[in-house]
Parts: sequence; structure tokens; C-alpha cells
Amino acid sequence: MILLTGGCGFIGSAFLLQWLSHTDEPVVNLDLLTYAGNPANLASIQDDPRYHFVQGDIADSKVVASLLARYRPRAVLHFAAESHVDRSISGPLAFAETNVVGTLKLLDAALAYWRTLESPAAAAFRFLHVSTDEVYGSLGPDAAGFTEANRYEPNSPYSASKAASDHFVRAYRHTYGLPTLTTNCSNNYGPRQFPEKLIPLMIHNALHAKPMPVYGDGQQIRDWLHVDDHCHALRAVLDRGRVGESYNIGGRSELSNMAVVEAICRNLDILRPRAGGQPHASLIAHVGDRPGHDRRYAIDDSKISGELGWNPSIAFDEGVRQTVQWYLDHEDWVQSIVSGAYRRSAQRNYSASTEFVARAVA
Ligand code: NAD
Ligand code: DAU
Repeated sequence: MILLTGGCGFIGSAFLLQWLSHTDEPVVNLDLLTYAGNPANLASIQDDPRYHFVQGDIADSKVVASLLARYRPRAVLHFAAESHVDRSISGPLAFAETNVVGTLKLLDAALAYWRTLESPAAAAFRFLHVSTDEVYGSLGPDAAGFTEANRYEPNSPYSASKAASDHFVRAYRHTYGLPTLTTNCSNNYGPRQFPEKLIPLMIHNALHAKPMPVYGDGQQIRDWLHVDDHCHALRAVLDRGRVGESYNIGGRSELSNMAVVEAICRNLDILRPRAGGQPHASLIAHVGDRPGHDRRYAIDDSKISGELGWNPSIAFDEGVRQTVQWYLDHEDWVQSIVSGAYRRSAQRNYSASTEFVARAVA
């Protein structure tokens, strides 16, 4: 059994679906169902006996302790976070609360549980912390990609909070011996990404003939990693990663934001041409820049590739075509988010799991 946090979000849900299609090992998903958590992402496994869902907060030490005692997982995989840079600029406090204090409380509960384990379970236990390349700051145009030895230079409240959480994970390894692993990955894309992030937002706006807002000159560079490749990498790190180490994960697809938006437009022109025949690119609108906008991220993945034999397998051209197709096939998914229906349905359907938590804690 593994315990996963934040499994109703974009990457956590992709991980859960991949996990249950590759193994019979059960999983318990602890998710608070913030605005970013959507149980519909996991509709296909909700009745699977290997899958257990609990609505709760990583910062609620009693709930986490009771789940660890009840399910006795061999690993904790920590995805839960506030994840959107723009939101961190308008409201940094929630990022400190969830990403820093929440992670610290989760670490503390995991440590207390780990100390109850006897060998060999204690030696086999892992706490895998999912983090970001943004902790390394911004690169110049010709600089080499981030290695695990790069200095931490976070520039946004979001990346500062993730950097702080990485430091706490490191401290729990160094001070208390908790068997931790950390991953720092680049921008993920793929199905079920919340439509506040670049790719789904652009697809949604284009489909509704709304302006496609490119921040500043659009020449900022990101390294795009398909979420399924990312999940394969996480499984490799969980299985074979060296305890206490961190691993950078990238897609080997460095692209400017403009190039990404143009690729979306090209795909939409083929898959869903506009009624008047105009290209979708005519909707692109340059808007004011994001404050403190990092110019370039790039990943040197030689550590995970050399040590664990992981390499990305989905080329961006194919991955973005599939992603555009997924959003075209799931317009109801986006619509339920835009209308707010997904929140109302989660509140209705998961009061039972909240009751379970209340009983477990009592
Ligand atoms: P997301 O915003 O889509 O999902 C976050 C999930 O965490 C949601 O289901 C939400 O309900 C849950 N959550 C939030 N606060 C919680 C709390 N206090 N207790 C329990 N659950 C809580 O995020 P994502 O894009 O899937 O990212 C997952 C992880 O990967 C995050 O840690 C993020 O920092 C990291 N990451 C994301 C990317 C990316 O491109 N999306 C890249 C690098 C790293
Ligand atoms: O690098 C990894 C990070 O990638 C993760 O840690 C974060 O959780 C994830 O949100 C993502 O952060 P970004 O800020 O890079 O992603 P976002 O999709 O918000 O923006 C991608 C780029 O596109 C960025 O340069 C800002 C730009 N952008 C974004 C939006 C939403 C626009 O130009 N217009 C937009 O409307």
C-alpha cells in the first residue's frame, strides 16, 4: 500500500491512473479537494477496490497520523500543493501554509510513523517529495540546464514555498534519517490539467474565440514534459532512487511560450477549424507581463537517465496533438470547472469520506 497526497489534481491523478494500470498494489489518496482537486479525474477508478479516497488536509496531523496507522503504507508520495505561480503572486500566504507548513506537518507525521516500523519495513520505507525546477531560478539563453547541484534561487512566492519544502525534506533526512527522495521536474502538460495553466487555458480560450493572452513578448522558455513521462520517472525514482537524493526530470522539449501557443493553434486549425476559416493564431493577444517572470528553465536529466535508465518518450509535437485532442473530446470536463459544477458535486459526494475522517480521528 502507498499513500499519495494531492491525487485529485493534475499530476497526482495521472500518477494514480498509471499506477493502478501497472500494479495491483493498493493506494490511499489524501486530498483536501481545493479548487484544483477534481474527483472526476479519477471517475474510472472510484469503484476499484485497490483505491481508497479520503478528503483531508496534509496539515491536519491527526488525520494523517490516523491514515498512516490504519493503512500502514510502505511509501508516502507527496503531490499536494498550491501549484499556480499567478495565484502565488496575488496571494502568497496560502502557498506558505500548504507548501511549507503542510509539507512540514506531513514530514513530521511520516517520521513518527516510520519510527514505529521494524526492519525491514523501516529500511524499505520512502517519502517521495514532488517538487519543481522553479526552485533553481531563471537561466540565461545559453546557460546549461539545471543539474541537482544548482543553487536554489527561487523568484516567485510559489517557487520560494517549494524551495522551503525541499529544504525541510532534506533536513528530515539529514537530522532524523527519514528515507526521503525529492524530484524537481519541469512544466508538465497533458490531459486533466486545470484550465488556469498555459496549455489548457489557451485551448479553452481558442475554442470560445476569446483572446489567447501571452504574457510579455512570449519568448520565455520552458521545458515541456508529458505528464505520463513524468509519472514513469516518479515510479523509477520510488523503485530505484538512492535515498536522500534528488532527481531532475525534464522533457527535452525546450520551447518558447509563443512556440507552444502556435503549436496549439496549428493543431486546432486541423482538428476544429473555425467557422469563418480564420486561423486560431489571429486570437493571440500580447498582454502585460507576469511580475518577476522567469525567462528560461531547462533541465539536465543526466542523473536520472544515467542512474535509473529513465528517458522521456513522448515528443512534444505528438504530446501536444494528443492533449489538444483530449480537450476537444472532454469539453464537458472543462465546462464543469468553468461553471463550478465540479465543486458542488465534490461537496455532495465526499461528505461520506469526511465523516470517515471524523470517526477515525475521534
Ligand atoms: P494541482 O494544483 O493540479 O493539484 C494539487 C492537488 O493538491 C489538488 O488535488 C488539491 O486539492 C490538493 N491539495 C492542495 N492543498 C492540499 C492540502 N492542504 N491537503 C491535501 N490536498 C491538497 O497540482 P499539480 O499540477 O498536479 O502538481 C502536483 C505537484 O507537482 C505539486 O507539488 C507541484 O508543485 C508539482 N509540480 C507541478 C508541475 C506542473 O507543471 N504542474 C511541475 C513541477 C512540479
Ligand atoms: O516549471 C514547473 C512549474 O510549471 C510548476 O512547478 C508549476 O506548478 C506549474 O504551474 C508551472 O509553472 P509556470 O508558471 O511555468 O506555468 P504556467 O502554465 O502558469 O505558465 C507557463 C508559461 O506561460 C509561463 O512563462 C507564463 C506563461 N503564460 C501563462 C499563462 C497562464 C502566459 O503567457 N499566459 C497565460 O495566460
